[in-house]
Amino acid sequence: MANLWGGRFKEATDASAYRFNQSIFFDKRLYAEDIEGSVAHATMLGKCGIIPSSESEEIVSELKKIKADIESGVLMISEDAEDIHSFIEAVLTERIGDAGKRLHTGRSRNDQVALDMKLYTGKNIKEKDELLKELQSVLLSIMENNTDTFMPGFTHLQKAQPVTLAHHMGAYFEMFIRDRQRLSDILKRMDQCPLGAGALAGTTYGLDRSLTASLLGFEGGPTRNSMDSVSDRDYLIDYLEALSLIMMHLSRFSEEIIIWNSNEYSFVEIDDRYSTGSSIMPQKKNPDIAELVRGKTGRVYGALMSLLTTMKGIPLAYDKDMQEDKEVSFDAMDNTADCIREFTGMMKTITFNKDVMEKSAKNGFTNATDAADYLVKKGVPFRDAHSVVGRLVLKCAMENKALDDLKLEEFKEESDVFEEDIYEAISMKTCVESRLTAGAPGREKMMEAIGYYREYLKN
Ligand code: ARG
Repeated sequence: MANLWGGRFKEATDASAYRFNQSIFFDKRLYAEDIEGSVAHATMLGKCGIIPSSESEEIVSELKKIKADIESGVLMISEDAEDIHSFIEAVLTERIGDAGKRLHTGRSRNDQVALDMKLYTGKNIKEKDELLKELQSVLLSIMENNTDTFMPGFTHLQKAQPVTLAHHMGAYFEMFIRDRQRLSDILKRMDQCPLGAGALAGTTYGLDRSLTASLLGFEGGPTRNSMDSVSDRDYLIDYLEALSLIMMHLSRFSEEIIIWNSNEYSFVEIDDRYSTGSSIMPQKKNPDIAELVRGKTGRVYGALMSLLTTMKGIPLAYDKDMQEDKEVSFDAMDNTADCIREFTGMMKTITFNKDVMEKSAKNGFTNATDAADYLVKKGVPFRDAHSVVGRLVLKCAMENKALDDLKLEEFKEESDVFEEDIYEAISMKTCVESRLTAGAPGREKMMEAIGYYREYLKN
């Protein structure tokens, strides 16, 4: 396949150097965006009288056929081409002759690839947003069913105070709200069209860049500086950072699911459809999906570091280093999508062992703070109350029981302020229900949060 720039050369590129320079293997996935950009460019060239409108129409209709042919499998993208831009232009020219050769008037592959990548990234961001929304709706239904499912809340992975499963899931729901906000911020910031920036310095043709920008759906119009336009990959770095944060959240969540699924915790049972077995140990049911999500997080962080490093030494404007933006970004985009999808499936089918969770909250002295607060409410200074309850906890720990198991006389041995109502005061239900500050797990507050999440998902 002839390349786009043979005229100046006496000799053909060395075969392995050609191979080294090619990007078709990975930029072929940009075919739809490349065609979309070319359709807009050709339309604008025709409207502005830069090429005859009959040729502009011919180009546009053939480009649409090329797209349909690629999608139906009639036209295979040839891996002999240097890149997707050369391939599509070559096919177009082969099919319609001279008109095809006029498509690249007033355009460079530099603004072309900048546009293709932006269009592709924009669509990909919207897909991620949809996937996160589906995950959030699964979390919301878990919350709705578990406002009374008590479990220990942890700090230092030590049982701390009782919460509910709804409250715990709500924490992740919030993280995904922020992730989705980040995605929409990126979309806003990148909403300017680089097409028409040319190689780096604009062109001498009277292009109507506002027209191409609006044909391509950019609400922010054309980019303001042609050099920046062809060398900007900030939006991609922004996106890789947003993907890294999504993965960090999924990885923390996975870590918890793995712990909860362990024999020792048994808070959850991952469904058969989302677990795997061992080739040697017949009893094993492993949380591979969660482990892979945790594992792939490193890979997505790697993409972010990779592109940041690629971009850090690049003088204005376009340099070929920037071709390295694609493989790592596509890998991060694909893997994050897979992770959200599989994680969502796993959460949709997971079983929560509610009684185990509640028992665990009871046995871990998560109501010790509430026992101290009980004394405080009856006039004991908090520091003294803390010490009284600390001694009771020590006694229970030695006798292997919960605070609730102590007899009233035993409570009274440490402080005669204790009365029969201590049992009610430190019951799991009271402990959770009386936590009614904004953002706390008490039922009333949790129902407000759930109401907010319902509205949020509707919009
Ligand atoms: N494959 C190139 C890339 O991905 C396309 C732009 C080529 N431009 C150029 N001047 N060689 O960046």
